[in-house]
Formats: sequence, C-alpha cells, structure tokens
Amino acid sequence: MKIFRTTSELIKWRKEGVLGLLGFVPTMGALHEGHASLLRSARKESDVVVLSILVNPTQFGDVSDLENYPKTLEKDLKIAEKEGVDAVFAPTPEDLYGGIPSADNVDWGAITSDFEAEFRPGHFNGVVAVVDKLFTTINPDKAFFGEKDLQQVAVIRRLALLHHNEVEIVSCDLIRDSDELALSSRNIRLSREGRTIALELSKSLKAIFNSSNKVGQIRLETSRIDAIEGLDLDYLAGVNEVTYSKNDDPQSWTHAIIAAEVDGVRLIDNIRL
Ligand code: PAJ
Repeated sequence: MKIFRTTSELIKWRKEGVLGLLGFVPTMGALHEGHASLLRSARKESDVVVLSILVNPTQFGDVSDLENYPKTLEKDLKIAEKEGVDAVFAPTPEDLYGGIPSADNVDWGAITSDFEAEFRPGHFNGVVAVVDKLFTTINPDKAFFGEKDLQQVAVIRRLALLHHNEVEIVSCDLIRDSDELALSSRNIRLSREGRTIALELSKSLKAIFNSSNKVGQIRLETSRIDAIEGLDLDYLAGVNEVTYSKNDDPQSWTHAIIAAEVDGVRLIDNIRL
C-alpha cells in the first residue's frame, strides 16, 4: 500500500499512469466500520482504490470541534491495508490548499442553506472546497460517499454535476452499531450516559418510519425528544434527498432526518422512508 503525504507525490503517481478504474474514498480519518464499508464498495467496483485522510479545517465552524476531532492515523492505515486500499493520500491542509486553507461561498439553494447548512454555517463551503481539490488532484472515475451524511451526498452530486462531470458519485448505506446508533468518528467522545441518550435519535426515526401518519409522528417525536434532558434537538424533519426543500408533503419525502447535540457532540442520523 502506497502512502502519499504531499499533493506533488500523489500527482506524480497519477501521471505515471494508474491502470484501470480508480475508486476514491475521501475521509477525515478515525476510521470505523462505516468508512470500511465504503472501502469495500470501492474495492468491489474499482481496479485501484485511493483513500484520503485529512481533517479539513475549512468545514469546521467550531474551533474546539476541530481541535477535538480524533486522529488515529496508525490504526487507520491498518484498516486501509486490511480493506485492500492501494494508496492512501494524507496531506496537510496547507499542502492540499497550497497555503492557508480557505473556502469560497457556495449557494446552491436549499441543499446549501437549510438543515445542516443552517446549523453549521460555512460547513458545506469547506466540504465543497476540499472535495473539489481532492477530485482535481486524484482525478477518480468513481467516488464513494456514505448516506450517513445524506445532505453532503446531495451537495457532492451537485459539485460533480457542475465541475467534475467525469466523476461518478456512488452513495453507500448508512452503517449502525449493534445498538442502532449511527457510526460516527465523534461517538468516542460520548459518555456512557450520553450514548444511551443518543439512542433516542434512531428510536425516533424508526417510529416515524413505522407510522402511517408521518407528519403527526414527527410532531410527536419532536416534543418527546425536546423533553429529554441532555439532548439538544437541532431539527427533525422529512425531506427529499435531492432537493432538501422544506415542505410538509410526506409524498415528496424520501427520508426522515435528525440532528442533535449530546455531551457537546453533534450527532446526525436519517432513515429512508
Ligand atoms: P468523514 O466524516 O470522515 O466521513 C467520510 C465518509 O464516510 C463520508 O462519505 C461519510 O458519509 C461516510 N460515513 C461516515 N459514517 C458512516 C456510517 N455510519 N455509515 C456509512 N458511511 C459513513 O464526510 C467527511 O468525512 C468529510 O466531510 C469529507 C467528505 C471527507 C470532506 O472532508
């Protein structure tokens, strides 16, 4: 497995000519089974698999979230090796951005202004900036993203449509732990109590999935969650995974989505309806 720590090394390797279809999995490291499942899909669907690991500063609004983001490079490399990754690209932000990292404002309507975008201003500007640079540098045929970050998939599809037509975006299933908590690198920052509280997110989504009155159930779950101590709800809503426009017509919804904070850790989850 090759490990590239600079953009110039990666570009040199690409110029030498990589044989076959290149599948790319971008991550911020602290890999878990969710990431591993993306690597497995990439391995199945491509000849050469590239994994990137970079905690991208431009997508963090909160400095302490950036500072506390887990970094486990040695362990990540072992997982990459086990999943048959051909090359790991792990540059510094300054190297990839060619200087101090910055991100331009992106305005693509509801997908970049509502829900996650509303609660994390500037977040998608940073995601678009880094993925744009990664796509340009790596020049993949396919790129794999998890539906755990459902709104991110919509944003990346738009990015590809506008600027990277050559890249096919593949979205992969959300992976859960045995207790149904959606796997996330941030989960290790949850206390034992916090983790129990966090399970309410997937419970609510299941209740909405099972209900024949989705609008009513969302209302019910919102008041139930609001009343739970230690759980700060940002949103619970039905959305269409392409438009993300806010509306009360369940016919147009593809997913129920939820975001909340527990123990100062921001959690997101969703369920296909
Ligand atoms: P990160 O949070 O490390 O996630 C990398 C990829 O793994 C994303 O596509 C994410 O959706 C996927 N993933 C995370 N948890 C998952 C789970 N439980 N099930 C399925 N897939 C999961 O997302 C990012 O990094 C960054 O925004 C990035 C795209 C790398 C840009 O910096």
